[in-house]
Amino acid sequence: MRKFRWGILGTGAIAKQFVQGLRSVPDAEVFAVGSRSEASATKFAEKRNIPRRHASYQDLASDPGVDVVYIATPHPFHAENATLCLQAGKAVLCEKPFCVNAAEAKRVVELAREKRLFIMEGMWTRFFPLMEEVRRLGSERAIGEVRMLNVDFGFRADLDPASRLFDQRLGGGALLDVGVYCVSFASMVLGRPSGFVGLPHLGETGVDEQASVILEHQGGRLANLSIGIRTATPQEATIMGTEGYVRIHAPWWRPTSMTISRPDAENETVEAPVSGNGFNYEAAEVMRCLEAGKAESDIMPLDETISVMRTMDGIRAAWGLRYPNEEVAS
Ligand SMILES: NC(=O)c1ccc[n+]([C@@H]2O[C@H](COP(=O)([O-])OP(=O)(O)OC[C@H]3O[C@@H](n4cnc5c(N)ncnc54)[C@H](OP(=O)(O)O)[C@@H]3O)[C@@H](O)[C@H]2O)c1
Repeated sequence: MRKFRWGILGTGAIAKQFVQGLRSVPDAEVFAVGSRSEASATKFAEKRNIPRRHASYQDLASDPGVDVVYIATPHPFHAENATLCLQAGKAVLCEKPFCVNAAEAKRVVELAREKRLFIMEGMWTRFFPLMEEVRRLGSERAIGEVRMLNVDFGFRADLDPASRLFDQRLGGGALLDVGVYCVSFASMVLGRPSGFVGLPHLGETGVDEQASVILEHQGGRLANLSIGIRTATPQEATIMGTEGYVRIHAPWWRPTSMTISRPDAENETVEAPVSGNGFNYEAAEVMRCLEAGKAESDIMPLDETISVMRTMDGIRAAWGLRYPNEEVAS
């Protein structure tokens, strides 16, 4: 397999972790970084021994040595950053949530398809070895017909109106930050939802600090989601079927073990240890797809990414939560 040269767009918290993850993928080379500021690009590159650094995202996107760009900016900039990279002919891995709403996501996907370039949402949870087992259990009907699931993702952050989590201009709120994992997980297990009800608590900066959401899926199947950025939750997921249930142990979004319980049988525990820091799995999927000449991943398909965004659009619309300068959803 050839080596793929990665460019890192943005120098924040997750970009640092992703670079660390890439280091454990033999076919990946961390080749370049781009930042809005030269000082930040230089600091990031020197600390990590990255050969090229750029003082603008445009320069990173135009770097002929870069094969694929990882976008690690706050969500409201994903569409603009992805468009820039696609226009420059680059493959893209874009952090979750893919965009702020479905209209943006659709536009970005259409551009990638028009240019026949690879793009994928960095929903890293889907690529862990344990999630492969979860999908296998589902296809083998190991707990019968799946009827319901519970999933939660909440943590307690200090209230900081200027931070990405609380500032509306930076796409703040629990739904887009952690709810997206839960909606995506429900979609993976139960298919696309057909309806929903949800109740948020909007905090003093106007973003959803916590929420409960129930998604309705075909045949009356239900997903129960609890999310928060001011409330810590157990971070577990339980999938319930007609012949048992599966508990994915905390943190389910970076999973390493699950327990399968069936009536009249001993509990069965499945372990799937993680190598690297976990970001290596989604990066490996990107490179597998590029090597195979595929324009999208079968594990995180683009139409599903758009559908997840559409579900979150609907949930937010019912709450009256609209981000500044957000275009009307299509
Ligand atoms: N997969 C995961 O586990 C995971 C975890 C956390 C976050 N994320 C996602 O990753 C994205 C970034 O999150 P983060 O926690 O890394 O954010 P962060 O620490 O605030 O960093 C974001 C970076 O984006 C760039 N940026 C561009 N325009 C900006 C603006 N107007 N304000 C602030 N920063 C701006 C900055 O880099 P430069 O100054 O170098 O341009 C900044 O360092 C989010 O979409 C988030 O949902 C994913």
